[in-house]
Amino acid sequence: MLIAGNWKMYKGPGATREFCAAFSPPDGVEAVLCPPFGSLGAGVASGHTIYAQNVHWADDGAFTGEVSTLILVELGVQGAIVGHSERRQYFGETDATVRMRTEHALEAGLRVIACVGELEEERERGETEAVLTRQVSVLSARPGLTVAYEPVWAIGTGKTATPEIAQEAHALIKSLLDVPVLYGGSVKPENAAELLDQPDVDGALVGGASLDVGSFTAICETAARLSRS
Ligand code: PGA
Repeated sequence: MLIAGNWKMYKGPGATREFCAAFSPPDGVEAVLCPPFGSLGAGVASGHTIYAQNVHWADDGAFTGEVSTLILVELGVQGAIVGHSERRQYFGETDATVRMRTEHALEAGLRVIACVGELEEERERGETEAVLTRQVSVLSARPGLTVAYEPVWAIGTGKTATPEIAQEAHALIKSLLDVPVLYGGSVKPENAAELLDQPDVDGALVGGASLDVGSFTAICETAARLSRS
């Protein structure tokens, strides 16, 4: 099982070093940390598996504020999150740019966690299936690709999808694309077991609860326990 911590725009190099020194993931779980760009080097130096939170589709060029696969690979970063809903909402990320970023990163040998998920109003209008189908349709199943199902209404809100909602969405995504699918959206130690126990939930993308080494470790331990059973 893969448990990834998305730190968003939190933790500079000092806090990253502190977290990494205290973090010791249990056997049987693949733990990934995704610090902000400026803290990637500190993360890599710790020996933990480090992914970036975004990556561009060109090797280099006039793209202010972006980072390339070449730079990430040189840093020792092993993968990247692509298409997080905060990128889609605030930075104009589209299905087309998600496709370009994902393909280029996979070609460069980086692993990718590509995020999909419906807005609250889309769920209310009964459009969840159509939205997920559209978002997933730009991706192709390739080694190194993982999808994260993150219902936007559950991100940072404390509202978690029920295990049934998560399972239904994961089953749909897997019927479209044969890749592992992580659940994301207010995952915490208290709800990790019921979500990770669903047959089509292959891990979690954790935001808020990944900032604390105790709660992130607890989620990793739950994943390790379920993988053994
Ligand atoms: P959250 O964030 O766990 O704080 O809801 C998840 C994410 O944005 O990946």
